[in-house]
Amino acid sequence: MLTKNMKKLISQHTLGFVASVNDSGQPNLSPKGTFVIVDDKHLMFSEIRSPNTIKNIQINPQVEVNFVDPFKRKGVRIKGICRIIEKPDAEFERLFDEFEQWGELTRLIRRIVMIDIIDAKEISSPIYDIGADENEMVSVWSEKYRQMYE
Ligand SMILES: Cc1cc2nc3c(=O)[nH]c(=O)nc-3n(C[C@H](O)[C@H](O)[C@H](O)COP(=O)(O)O)c2cc1C
Repeated sequence: MLTKNMKKLISQHTLGFVASVNDSGQPNLSPKGTFVIVDDKHLMFSEIRSPNTIKNIQINPQVEVNFVDPFKRKGVRIKGICRIIEKPDAEFERLFDEFEQWGELTRLIRRIVMIDIIDAKEISSPIYDIGADENEMVSVWSEKYRQMYE
């Protein structure tokens, strides 16, 4: 399911864009920056302020999540089924420490959303179709980002 490459990208770029659908079939896409890899078949994020995503997955637990490394111009596309773990269930308590890298923010965690992965694919920018080099992409895009914030 999750390859070594995918796990590296997700653990470095923990911001995943989560797509869910409401009961009318309308899509809802929102970023979650607190993704943690559980194992080859499971990912989780902390629910802090995601009312629409929670409402949607309570009705339809299917989601798609995209992660992108904006420097390498590569990403991971995941389809999965969600399960909400409520605070203070024993499972919540057991998993909570995995979010420790977010420090003080963890005080605001209300639930954990566990995603059972049914498909995971690597994706890349079409720039690679015309022969781009990964190291070159990293250097070009690092420089663009540096200039944006100087
Ligand atoms: C960069 C970024 C990271 C975020 N990370 C999280 C997160 O990990 N958990 C969360 O609940 N909300 C997170 N949010 C906030 C939600 O995406 C935001 O409150 C959104 O409006 C909730 O949308 P929803 O109700 O459609 O899920 C993040 C927002 C941004 C911009």
